[in-house]
Amino acid sequence: MFITFEGMEGSGKSTALNRVQQALLNEGHGVLLTREPGGSRLGRTLRSILLDLSNDDIVPEAELFLYLADRAQHVGQVIRPALAEGVVVLSDRYADSTVVYQGYGRGLDPERLRELNDMAVGGLWPDLTLVFDLPPEEGLRRAMTRNLQDGTSVSEGRFEAEHLAFHARVREGYLTWAALNPARFRVVDATRTPDQVFEDVMRAVRAALAAAPAHP
Ligand code: TYD
Repeated sequence: MFITFEGMEGSGKSTALNRVQQALLNEGHGVLLTREPGGSRLGRTLRSILLDLSNDDIVPEAELFLYLADRAQHVGQVIRPALAEGVVVLSDRYADSTVVYQGYGRGLDPERLRELNDMAVGGLWPDLTLVFDLPPEEGLRRAMTRNLQDGTSVSEGRFEAEHLAFHARVREGYLTWAALNPARFRVVDATRTPDQVFEDVMRAVRAALAAAPAHP
């Protein structure tokens, strides 16, 4: 079972991710919590390049292939081996982030991005993708409060510094992409309390587990 968590900064996806991990562990499942960019050793180096504010001259295509390199390594070294052992893999972001941020956000063609991702991951798409949806103003407000509270360095904030119009395109992009792939996607209203969000999320996770697909 492979489940991915998507949405803008400040959407509460990481909070929900941690709670789902705990709930599944309590029920006796093996669980791997991972993330992109940076879910592998090589990926952590790529992450520091991608999120570095001083790399604001990076062209969209170069950014794209760095994300794809991160993902290919993540799938080959971390995700596939875990799935082969029967572990439930929960990933904070995956291929849909590229389709949405580099596609709907930066203007690359979403369908081409789906194909390039398909090559990078050898056809491994999630069983379930949860999109945490909220207005970009609210997400940015939450993300900034969090950064102030936990002292996240500015160099981790390249995307958070993007203008509001970019985040509005990202939000619309997620909704469009989810509507195009309804079998795999669930859109969660992330403006509600963490408990309400978690309840929705667990309902979707349980339904996916009950359907119990097998990965090759
Ligand atoms: P991160 O610090 O992991 O924060 P969060 O997931 O909480 O937003 O930031 C990852 C950033 O990278 C995020 O702004 C989205 C962006 N991103 C892409 O543009 N494309 C991708 O393929 C991925 C995985 C992430």
